Order: sequence, then C-alpha cells, then structure tokens
Amino acid sequence: MSVVGQRVPRVDAREKVTGEARFVDDLAFPGMLYAAVVRSTEPRARILSMDLESVLSLPGVVAVAGPDDIPGGNNIPLILPGHPLLAPGETNFCGQALGLVGAETREAADLAAGLVRVEYEPRTPLLDPLDARLPGAPGLYGEDNTFGHHVVRRGDVERGFREAFLVVENTYHTPAQEHAYLEPQGAIAVPTPDLGIVVYGSMQCPFYVQRAIAHILGLPLGKVRIVQTTTGGAFGGKEDAPSEVGGQAAVLAWKTRRPVKLVYHREEDMHSMSKRHPAHIRYKTGVKEDGTLVAVEVQMTYDGGAFGTLSPVVLWRATVHAAGAYRCPNVRVDAWAVATNKEPSGAFRGFGAPQVLFAAESQMDEVAAKLGMDPLALRKHNILRTGDETATGQKLRSSVGSLQTIREASRASDYRTKRARWGKDRGPVRKGIGVSTINYGAGLGGLSPYLTRAGAFVQVHADGSALYAVGTTEMGQGMHTVLAQIVAEELGLRLDQVTATETDTSRVPDSGPTVASRATIMSGNALRDACARVRKNLWGVGASILGVPLHDVLGEGGVLYAGQKQDKSVAVEDVARECISRRVHLAAQGWFRAPKTSWDPKRGQGDAYMVYAWATNIAEVEVDLETGVVRLVRLTAAHDVGRAINPVGVEGQIEGGSLQGVGYALTEEVLRKDGRIINPDFSTYIIPTPSDAPEITPVIVESRFSKGPHGAKGFAEQPLMGVAPAVANAVYHATGLRIRELPLTPERLKKEMERSKR
Ligand code: MOS
Repeated sequence: MSVVGQRVPRVDAREKVTGEARFVDDLAFPGMLYAAVVRSTEPRARILSMDLESVLSLPGVVAVAGPDDIPGGNNIPLILPGHPLLAPGETNFCGQALGLVGAETREAADLAAGLVRVEYEPRTPLLDPLDARLPGAPGLYGEDNTFGHHVVRRGDVERGFREAFLVVENTYHTPAQEHAYLEPQGAIAVPTPDLGIVVYGSMQCPFYVQRAIAHILGLPLGKVRIVQTTTGGAFGGKEDAPSEVGGQAAVLAWKTRRPVKLVYHREEDMHSMSKRHPAHIRYKTGVKEDGTLVAVEVQMTYDGGAFGTLSPVVLWRATVHAAGAYRCPNVRVDAWAVATNKEPSGAFRGFGAPQVLFAAESQMDEVAAKLGMDPLALRKHNILRTGDETATGQKLRSSVGSLQTIREASRASDYRTKRARWGKDRGPVRKGIGVSTINYGAGLGGLSPYLTRAGAFVQVHADGSALYAVGTTEMGQGMHTVLAQIVAEELGLRLDQVTATETDTSRVPDSGPTVASRATIMSGNALRDACARVRKNLWGVGASILGVPLHDVLGEGGVLYAGQKQDKSVAVEDVARECISRRVHLAAQGWFRAPKTSWDPKRGQGDAYMVYAWATNIAEVEVDLETGVVRLVRLTAAHDVGRAINPVGVEGQIEGGSLQGVGYALTEEVLRKDGRIINPDFSTYIIPTPSDAPEITPVIVESRFSKGPHGAKGFAEQPLMGVAPAVANAVYHATGLRIRELPLTPERLKKEMERSKR
C-alpha cells in the first residue's frame, strides 16, 4: 500500500488555513435577498394573530411569508409526520419558526422580523419528559406523547437477578448538549429559469434536503438540486436541520423569484436547533460473585422535544447499545422517546448511545467497587469477544478489537501503577484514574436497511489526474482525505493527482445521509467499485504498452509497472493520453450496498449493525475538594477502527471527539427557565477550550473489517462517548463520590459531598 495507511496532511488543509474556503455566508448571487425568521416567544400557545403584512412598508423589506405561502406541504418530511416548517396556528416551543421576512439587507430583515406582532394564547407547557406519558399530560403528539418505543428481550431477567450475587440499581440523568458547530446553520436558495431550484448550504445530508425542498415547494425531485457548501462542523446538528433552514430560504425564493440567503445568528441557532436528547435512565445490573454479568434491566426516557425528527432512530441506537459492550444472557430494555415543549432533540455524535453508556459504564464501576474487584479486570472478564453474542443476539464473527483496546489503553496509561497508588490522598486535591469500555455499531443498521447504500463517480482525465464525486459529505471530519487516499491507491496515482468535487445531488444517486460513522465504509466501497471499472480500462491499455497481461500490472505513485520487478514502467499520464487516442472510456459510476442486517422489533433481537468499533478510555483526574472542580489531566483513548486509512486523521478525530466528551462530562449544560433557554451563547454555555484540554493519548487498534475498504470500519462518533463515564469513574476513585448526573460541575460535586457527610 503506497497511500492507504500513510499519515497524510488533509487535502483541504490549505484552503481552511488560508481562509480561502468559502462557507455559505461567503457566497452571494446577483439580486440576492436576505431572510430572517419570526420566532415564537412561548413554549406552548395558540397563535391568535401574526401581523406579517405590517412590516412590508419598512425600508428594504421585499416580501413576507407565513404558513399559507408554502406552495407544497407545510411539513418537514423525515420519519414521523407533523413537523411544520412554519407553525400553523399553534406553537410548541420557544424559538419555533412562525414566519419569514425577505429584505435587501440582513439588517433590514432582522429588524422587520423583530417588529412582527404576534398575539398568543398561552397554554400549559409540558416540560418534564417524565410527565409526558402520565394521564392528564398535555397532548402534544399521538395518544401518549411518544415518538418511539423500542425494546430488547433476551433471556429471562427475573431469573438472572435471582441467580445474582449482587444487584446494583441506580438512576442517571444526562443533559441536552449543544453541537456548538463553529459555523451556524445557513442556506442560499436560488430559483432557476426552468422553474426548478438550487439550494446551497451547510449540511450533512443533501439528499434529505432535496426530499424536503421538493415536498415544501411541491416540485419533482428532479427539479431540486442541492449543493453542499464547505461545512464548518456539524456533529449531527446538520443532519435534518438544514431541511428546515433550506426550506425557509426556498419558500421566500419561490415567492420572490430571487436568490435568498438565510444564515442563523448564534443565539437563534441555539434557541431553535436540535440538541442531544436529555435522558432519564433507570439501570439495574446483576452479577455473580466472580463478576460475571447475569442480568441487565434498563428503562429509559429520552426527551424528544416538540417534534419527532430523528427521535425514533436515535432511541433505537440507544436501545441496541443499552447493555454496553458485554456478554449478558438476560437483558430487558424498554426505551421511550417522548414529546415536550422544547426545541426538537436530534442527532448528535453518538446518536443516543452516550446517554445510556454513561449509565452502563458507571454501573460497571459500581459493581467492581462493591465486589472489591479492579474495574478494568471486571471489564476484561465480561467484554464481548469473537464468537460471543450481543444483547440483541448478534454473533460477533470478526473485527472484535475489544480486549485489545483494554490492554493497550491500560499499558499506555500505566493504569495499574496509578490505580494502586492513587485514591488514597487525604489532602484537598485528590488524584484518581477511571476507565470505560464501549462499542459502537457502524452505519445505519437494521432499522433502516433501505438507506444502506451509496454511489460514487470517478473520472480519469487525459493527464492522468482523477476527479471523484460521492454522495456523502465532508463536514470537517476528514472524509475527503481518506477517500482521496482510497482513489489514489486503487488507480495507482499520487494523492496530488486526485481531486474531489463538492457533494451535489446531481452528481451521484441518493447515497443516504452522512451520519452514523458510515462515510468511509459506504463511499469508500462505492469508490472502490467505480475505480475498479476505470482501472480495468486504464490499466488494460497500460498492460498493452508494457507488453504484459493485465493481472501483472502494478500501479503506484502515478506509475504503472510490469510486475513486481518494476523493470518496465510507464507513467499513468502517458497511459491516459493513449486511452484518449484509443477512445477508451475512463469514467465510471460505483455502487455499494452494505452487508445485511436484521431487526425484530417485538423482541428487540437481530444483527443490528454490520460491524462494531470498540474503545477503552482511561481518564486521570485531580479533584479539588474545596472548590469542587474536577480537572481532567490526561486521557488515554484506545480505539479499534478496523484500519486507519489516515492515522493522523484518526488521531485528530480521537482528540476532537474526546474534547466534546470532556464538555459533556464536565461543563456543558443547556439551562432553561419556563421552557426558554437562558444560556444560548458561548459565554454562558461552556464548551471546552484548548486550556481545558487534557493531555490526550490516542491509541489506534486495527482489527480489520473484511467488508470495509482496506479493512476500515467507521468510528468517528465513538471518541465522544466513553469520556464522561471514565471521568465520573475517576472522580469516584479519587474521592469516593459517585455522581450520576452530567455534567460533573463543582456545584454537583459540592452537593454530593454535603450529602455524603450527612
Ligand atoms: Mo450522526 S449523530 O449519526 O449525524
């Protein structure tokens, strides 16, 4: 392998570093208008009137639009019905979009939107998700305010708990988490002369946006083209949300026949856009005297907010991962996602798993403490290995790097020495070391098998350089570097001979969303398919030039060789030129369908995911008992990624994801008063900065996935997920304080200290 597996700089590094990369707000079109959104100030109310027309006379204002101005359906299509683009007659959360204003400048649009008078008849909001399914709760959705209910039924948990030597039962709470992408949501809608529309925007899933805009404008899909612009972070927050932003811009563009730009302000974005689901989790674990896990029972309620969006699938992933990364013969999980009068919860790196894994991994630590066992040894004892069955009855056949991540994280952190030495301090500052082990299903899995395909396009030019297009998106994660490496490897090119186009729905067929750590496997394999077709023609001509059979040709670094000895060679550039003169076809579409998965919703059993990534995190903390401040000093994060196509990219993902996990663990919390977010900005919603970053030691484990490109499997969400439980477990080791609610703020620590003294 000459390119795959090499530590290469990002292919988009230069444009990002110099500032030449153009984000949606850097773009402009002739005659472009600026949009602003009129938003609800009530968590739940009837809308008695909205006086949009009155702002039309303000300077610069060109058009307004309300629910009645939507030409197609006033609905953002995703999974469940009932999510309006503009609130028709009633509002269900503070910040919900009610109407639109288009003006010649952004300032004029903002001013006018703020002056639109809305009369409300407030109704009692439903704010606590635990109230949602109680009799007499306000009816927000369906019969019982439920967006989804998933189960796992394996073995007999009652018998399991009877056989158990020790049963540990606790309740955990996790908060909403804001994505904090640096670039806020934004889109530009441009009507085309043939009565179609092009929408440019910051997004993860152009095909979702295409479907939504076609529905909202009442157009055939073929009239709607979506172009992803350079995207400054997404983390799940730009999975479904851009359908809403793009839809709003499109409605005004359609009405005015002019391009319309809509870029959210930060506060507006934080008030109205999705967050990680807050969760309440009741978790019961039973083990034998030697630590063998015999029963797990989980009941969890995920707060879905006002509309269904992705809640049913977020909840499904949470359900599949609920029992953690362990063998357990008896598992019973019941999970609900419920409606409340808050902004809709949605996708966020980990997609429902971080919440329940915080509970699962805290439980393992507590079991270890009660048994007097080392927590790492308890994990090793129970961890899923090759040949084992998961809680959903899936037999793990290969690519199970679980044990290796435990071993390597332990070694890299010098766990044993520190575990033995720390946890005995008597002074005000106490050191501790804690561990978590998790797994994560790659790709979309058994609930949505129809989405598990992807397309790709590859073309080799007359000078031997290659252009490719895929349907998945680069949002900062490094996808294009990995895919360019794969293309270079397949065609025998240098990395600098390979270029990507932006993701555009008109270039490749619907390739599903860029989520679920699926881009490397799905687009990587689709590109390999396309490259194989091009290679057959390109290298076929090369073989005839070299005078050897095709199967003897080797390609590397832009040169084709005749066999291993490399005594005869020809530059790909010269081969490509010869192909042109011989009229040989040098372009191809590729296609990939993911390996089969399955799911029985009644029993919650099946081969949920095509493969799992694995991770062990070891956190080293210092806890100041006087201030309650937890300082994460060092984090060792060992991840089984199958194969690191670009090891430096993998390390970057581990570092970035881990830091988001640090925020989830220690500082990030969406605060509300009467249903309204009171910290919608980065001075009061505290994300980690470089000065909060621990020393992070990434460790790459490669347990190859035979169906992944060059053995790779997805893992990019995983780095976030194991951090919070490892930190909480380290705090316990340092202080004996067990905190079961995130984030671990000084206030929570002090409160627990007071409680434990009593
Ligand atoms: Mo991701 S949280 O699956 O967009």
